[in-house]
Amino acid sequence: MTNFFTTSIGRKILMSVTGLFLIMFLLVHLTVNSMILFDGTGDLFNRAAHFMATTPLIKVVEPLLAIGLLAHFLIASLITFQNQRNRNVTYGAFGRYEARNASQGSTWASRNMYILGTVIIVFLVIHLINFFWKMKFTGDPLLSEVIINGEHMENAYALVTGLFINWKWSVALYVVGAIALGLHLYHGVWSAFQTLGWSNKKWRKILNVIGVLFSTLLALGYAIIPLYVMIRSMI
Ligand code: HEM
Repeated sequence: MTNFFTTSIGRKILMSVTGLFLIMFLLVHLTVNSMILFDGTGDLFNRAAHFMATTPLIKVVEPLLAIGLLAHFLIASLITFQNQRNRNVTYGAFGRYEARNASQGSTWASRNMYILGTVIIVFLVIHLINFFWKMKFTGDPLLSEVIINGEHMENAYALVTGLFINWKWSVALYVVGAIALGLHLYHGVWSAFQTLGWSNKKWRKILNVIGVLFSTLLALGYAIIPLYVMIRSMI
Protein backbone atom coordinates (compact mmCIF):
# COMPACT_ATOMS: atom_id res chain seq x y z
CA MET A 1 0.00 0.00 0.00
CA THR A 2 2.80 2.41 0.98
CA ASN A 3 4.54 1.50 -2.30
CA PHE A 4 1.38 2.22 -4.26
CA PHE A 5 1.22 5.83 -3.08
CA THR A 6 4.86 6.43 -3.95
CA THR A 7 4.22 5.44 -7.58
CA SER A 8 3.30 8.04 -10.15
CA ILE A 9 -0.24 6.65 -10.65
CA GLY A 10 -0.73 6.32 -6.87
CA ARG A 11 0.10 10.00 -6.44
CA LYS A 12 -2.26 10.97 -9.26
CA ILE A 13 -5.06 9.00 -7.60
CA LEU A 14 -4.38 10.77 -4.28
CA MET A 15 -4.43 14.13 -6.11
CA SER A 16 -7.77 13.24 -7.71
CA VAL A 17 -9.44 11.97 -4.53
CA THR A 18 -8.29 14.96 -2.42
CA GLY A 19 -9.23 17.30 -5.30
CA LEU A 20 -12.77 15.89 -5.54
CA PHE A 21 -13.13 16.19 -1.75
CA LEU A 22 -12.05 19.86 -1.92
CA ILE A 23 -14.54 20.44 -4.75
CA MET A 24 -17.37 19.21 -2.51
CA PHE A 25 -16.28 21.70 0.17
CA LEU A 26 -16.21 24.49 -2.45
CA LEU A 27 -19.80 23.68 -3.47
CA VAL A 28 -21.10 23.74 0.10
CA HIS A 29 -19.07 26.88 0.90
CA LEU A 30 -20.45 28.70 -2.16
CA THR A 31 -24.02 27.68 -1.27
CA VAL A 32 -23.60 29.17 2.23
CA ASN A 33 -21.91 32.33 0.88
CA SER A 34 -24.57 32.85 -1.79
CA MET A 35 -27.06 33.64 1.02
CA ILE A 36 -25.38 37.08 1.00
CA LEU A 37 -26.94 37.67 -2.43
CA PHE A 38 -30.47 36.70 -1.42
CA ASP A 39 -30.98 38.58 1.82
CA GLY A 40 -29.76 42.15 2.37
CA THR A 41 -30.53 41.99 6.11
CA GLY A 42 -27.84 39.33 6.56
CA ASP A 43 -30.08 37.03 8.62
CA LEU A 44 -30.00 34.20 6.10
CA PHE A 45 -26.19 34.24 5.80
CA ASN A 46 -25.68 34.60 9.57
CA ARG A 47 -27.97 31.64 10.26
CA ALA A 48 -26.23 29.51 7.61
CA ALA A 49 -22.75 30.46 8.92
CA HIS A 50 -23.87 29.78 12.51
CA PHE A 51 -25.28 26.38 11.50
CA MET A 52 -21.97 25.49 9.81
CA ALA A 53 -19.94 26.62 12.84
CA THR A 54 -21.99 24.68 15.38
CA THR A 55 -22.89 21.42 13.58
CA PRO A 56 -20.84 18.49 15.02
CA LEU A 57 -20.33 16.93 11.56
CA ILE A 58 -18.62 20.11 10.34
CA LYS A 59 -16.24 19.99 13.30
CA VAL A 60 -15.09 16.57 12.04
CA VAL A 61 -14.90 17.71 8.41
CA GLU A 62 -12.79 20.82 9.19
CA PRO A 63 -9.56 18.99 10.15
CA LEU A 64 -10.12 16.58 7.23
CA LEU A 65 -10.35 19.61 4.97
CA ALA A 66 -7.03 20.96 6.26
CA ILE A 67 -5.38 17.53 5.79
CA GLY A 68 -6.89 17.16 2.28
CA LEU A 69 -5.69 20.61 1.28
CA LEU A 70 -2.18 20.02 2.62
CA ALA A 71 -1.94 16.57 0.97
CA HIS A 72 -3.20 17.98 -2.35
CA PHE A 73 -0.58 20.76 -2.26
CA LEU A 74 2.33 18.57 -1.12
CA ILE A 75 1.72 15.83 -3.69
CA ALA A 76 1.31 18.49 -6.41
CA SER A 77 4.67 19.96 -5.37
CA LEU A 78 6.29 16.52 -5.57
CA ILE A 79 4.79 15.73 -9.00
CA THR A 80 5.74 19.18 -10.35
CA PHE A 81 9.28 18.88 -9.00
CA GLN A 82 9.72 15.48 -10.67
CA ASN A 83 8.19 16.71 -13.94
CA GLN A 84 10.55 19.71 -13.91
CA ARG A 85 13.51 17.35 -13.66
CA ASN A 86 12.34 15.28 -16.63
CA ARG A 87 11.05 18.26 -18.61
CA ASN A 88 11.71 18.76 -22.31
CA VAL A 89 13.51 15.46 -22.58
CA THR A 90 11.76 12.41 -23.95
CA TYR A 91 12.67 9.31 -25.94
CA GLY A 92 12.05 9.74 -29.67
CA ALA A 93 10.93 7.06 -32.09
CA PHE A 94 14.53 5.90 -32.56
CA GLY A 95 15.42 5.78 -28.90
CA ARG A 96 17.33 9.08 -28.70
CA TYR A 97 16.45 12.09 -26.60
CA GLU A 98 14.25 14.69 -28.28
CA ALA A 99 13.00 18.06 -27.08
CA ARG A 100 9.29 17.96 -26.42
CA ASN A 101 7.01 20.76 -27.48
CA ALA A 102 5.44 21.52 -24.10
CA SER A 103 2.32 23.15 -25.50
CA GLN A 104 1.41 20.35 -27.92
CA GLY A 105 -2.07 18.93 -27.27
CA SER A 106 -2.54 20.59 -23.89
CA THR A 107 -4.42 23.63 -22.61
CA TRP A 108 -2.91 26.65 -20.85
CA ALA A 109 -4.71 25.65 -17.64
CA SER A 110 -3.32 22.10 -17.71
CA ARG A 111 0.27 23.37 -18.15
CA ASN A 112 -0.10 25.87 -15.32
CA MET A 113 -1.93 23.86 -12.65
CA TYR A 114 0.85 24.36 -10.10
CA ILE A 115 1.05 28.13 -10.67
CA LEU A 116 -2.74 28.43 -10.46
CA GLY A 117 -2.72 26.30 -7.31
CA THR A 118 -0.08 28.56 -5.76
CA VAL A 119 -2.16 31.68 -6.56
CA ILE A 120 -5.13 29.94 -4.85
CA ILE A 121 -3.02 29.10 -1.77
CA VAL A 122 -1.84 32.73 -1.47
CA PHE A 123 -5.46 33.87 -1.83
CA LEU A 124 -6.54 31.29 0.76
CA VAL A 125 -4.01 32.44 3.37
CA ILE A 126 -5.23 36.06 3.05
CA HIS A 127 -8.84 34.83 3.02
CA LEU A 128 -8.41 32.82 6.23
CA ILE A 129 -6.82 35.85 7.94
CA ASN A 130 -9.80 37.99 6.75
CA PHE A 131 -12.55 35.78 8.18
CA PHE A 132 -11.71 32.38 9.66
CA TRP A 133 -8.99 33.66 11.98
CA LYS A 134 -11.18 36.46 13.36
CA MET A 135 -14.24 34.22 13.76
CA LYS A 136 -12.35 31.40 15.45
CA PHE A 137 -9.62 33.15 17.44
CA THR A 138 -9.22 36.91 17.67
CA GLY A 139 -12.77 38.22 17.26
CA ASP A 140 -13.60 41.57 15.64
CA PRO A 141 -15.86 44.49 16.64
CA LEU A 142 -17.94 43.85 13.49
CA LEU A 143 -18.75 40.35 14.74
CA SER A 144 -20.62 41.64 17.81
CA GLU A 145 -23.54 39.39 18.58
CA VAL A 146 -26.91 39.48 16.82
CA ILE A 147 -30.10 37.71 17.90
CA ILE A 148 -32.06 35.98 15.14
CA ASN A 149 -35.26 34.11 16.04
CA GLY A 150 -34.18 34.17 19.70
CA GLU A 151 -30.76 32.63 18.94
CA HIS A 152 -27.49 34.46 19.72
CA MET A 153 -24.83 34.37 17.03
CA GLU A 154 -21.87 36.27 15.56
CA ASN A 155 -22.56 38.84 12.85
CA ALA A 156 -20.50 37.15 10.13
CA TYR A 157 -22.47 39.14 7.54
CA ALA A 158 -21.13 42.45 8.90
CA LEU A 159 -17.56 41.11 8.86
CA VAL A 160 -17.76 39.85 5.26
CA THR A 161 -19.64 42.81 3.76
CA GLY A 162 -17.53 45.25 5.82
CA LEU A 163 -14.38 43.97 4.10
CA PHE A 164 -15.78 44.26 0.57
CA ILE A 165 -17.28 47.70 1.21
CA ASN A 166 -14.32 49.28 3.00
CA TRP A 167 -11.41 47.63 1.14
CA LYS A 168 -12.00 47.81 -2.59
CA TRP A 169 -8.66 46.05 -3.22
CA SER A 170 -10.01 43.00 -1.45
CA VAL A 171 -12.76 42.78 -4.10
CA ALA A 172 -10.06 42.66 -6.82
CA LEU A 173 -8.20 39.98 -4.84
CA TYR A 174 -11.34 37.83 -4.48
CA VAL A 175 -12.12 38.17 -8.20
CA VAL A 176 -8.54 37.11 -9.11
CA GLY A 177 -8.85 34.20 -6.63
CA ALA A 178 -12.14 33.13 -8.23
CA ILE A 179 -10.67 33.24 -11.77
CA ALA A 180 -7.61 31.21 -10.70
CA LEU A 181 -9.94 28.72 -8.99
CA GLY A 182 -12.10 28.42 -12.13
CA LEU A 183 -9.10 27.75 -14.40
CA HIS A 184 -7.65 25.27 -11.89
CA LEU A 185 -10.96 23.41 -11.68
CA TYR A 186 -11.49 23.44 -15.45
CA HIS A 187 -8.52 21.15 -15.92
CA GLY A 188 -8.75 19.53 -12.47
CA VAL A 189 -12.28 18.10 -12.80
CA TRP A 190 -11.82 16.14 -15.99
CA SER A 191 -8.23 15.23 -15.16
CA ALA A 192 -9.44 13.69 -11.86
CA PHE A 193 -12.14 11.67 -13.59
CA GLN A 194 -9.65 10.57 -16.24
CA THR A 195 -7.21 9.38 -13.57
CA LEU A 196 -10.03 7.48 -11.86
CA GLY A 197 -10.79 5.64 -15.10
CA TRP A 198 -13.64 7.52 -16.81
CA SER A 199 -11.90 8.46 -19.98
CA ASN A 200 -13.24 6.59 -22.99
CA LYS A 201 -14.14 8.62 -26.10
CA LYS A 202 -17.77 9.22 -25.15
CA TRP A 203 -17.02 10.25 -21.54
CA ARG A 204 -14.10 12.47 -22.52
CA LYS A 205 -16.45 14.91 -24.29
CA ILE A 206 -19.09 14.80 -21.55
CA LEU A 207 -16.47 15.33 -18.81
CA ASN A 208 -15.02 18.25 -20.74
CA VAL A 209 -18.46 19.92 -20.86
CA ILE A 210 -19.03 19.18 -17.14
CA GLY A 211 -15.58 20.64 -16.37
CA VAL A 212 -16.32 23.86 -18.29
CA LEU A 213 -19.82 24.34 -16.81
CA PHE A 214 -18.80 23.50 -13.27
CA SER A 215 -15.65 25.65 -13.19
CA THR A 216 -17.50 28.60 -14.77
CA LEU A 217 -20.33 28.29 -12.23
CA LEU A 218 -17.93 28.25 -9.27
CA ALA A 219 -15.71 31.06 -10.58
CA LEU A 220 -18.73 33.27 -11.38
CA GLY A 221 -20.40 32.45 -8.06
CA TYR A 222 -17.32 33.32 -5.96
CA ALA A 223 -16.56 36.47 -8.03
CA ILE A 224 -20.13 37.83 -8.03
CA ILE A 225 -20.47 37.95 -4.21
CA PRO A 226 -17.77 40.59 -3.46
CA LEU A 227 -18.66 42.54 -6.64
CA TYR A 228 -22.36 42.57 -5.69
CA VAL A 229 -21.65 43.74 -2.12
CA MET A 230 -19.31 46.53 -3.31
CA ILE A 231 -21.59 47.77 -6.13
CA ARG A 232 -24.70 47.69 -3.90
CA SER A 233 -22.91 49.87 -1.34
CA MET A 234 -22.13 52.49 -4.02
CA ILE A 235 -25.68 52.95 -5.41
C1 HEM B 1 -17.15 35.26 -1.99
C2 HEM B 1 -16.14 34.62 -1.56
C3 HEM B 1 -16.01 34.00 -0.17
C4 HEM B 1 -16.60 34.36 1.02
C5 HEM B 1 -17.61 35.46 1.28
C6 HEM B 1 -16.11 33.43 2.03
C7 HEM B 1 -16.44 33.45 3.38
C8 HEM B 1 -15.84 32.69 4.37
C9 HEM B 1 -16.09 32.83 5.80
C10 HEM B 1 -17.04 33.84 6.45
C11 HEM B 1 -15.31 31.92 6.43
C12 HEM B 1 -15.20 31.66 7.96
C13 HEM B 1 -16.20 30.62 8.39
C14 HEM B 1 -16.06 30.22 9.85
O1 HEM B 1 -14.94 30.25 10.37
O2 HEM B 1 -17.05 29.84 10.47
C15 HEM B 1 -14.59 31.18 5.41
C16 HEM B 1 -13.73 30.13 5.66
C17 HEM B 1 -13.08 29.41 4.68
N1 HEM B 1 -13.09 29.66 3.33
FE1 HEM B 1 -14.16 31.08 2.39
N2 HEM B 1 -15.24 32.54 1.43
C18 HEM B 1 -15.15 32.87 0.08
C19 HEM B 1 -14.37 32.24 -0.88
C20 HEM B 1 -13.57 31.15 -0.65
C21 HEM B 1 -12.80 30.47 -1.66
C22 HEM B 1 -12.75 30.86 -3.14
C23 HEM B 1 -12.15 29.44 -1.04
C24 HEM B 1 -11.21 28.41 -1.61
C25 HEM B 1 -10.35 28.64 -2.56
C26 HEM B 1 -12.51 29.48 0.37
C27 HEM B 1 -12.05 28.61 1.33
C28 HEM B 1 -12.31 28.72 2.70
C29 HEM B 1 -11.76 27.81 3.70
C30 HEM B 1 -10.85 26.61 3.42
C31 HEM B 1 -12.24 28.24 4.94
C32 HEM B 1 -11.94 27.61 6.33
C33 HEM B 1 -12.85 26.45 6.61
C34 HEM B 1 -14.19 26.89 7.14
O3 HEM B 1 -14.24 27.73 8.05
O4 HEM B 1 -15.21 26.36 6.69
N3 HEM B 1 -13.38 30.52 0.57
N4 HEM B 1 -14.91 31.68 4.17
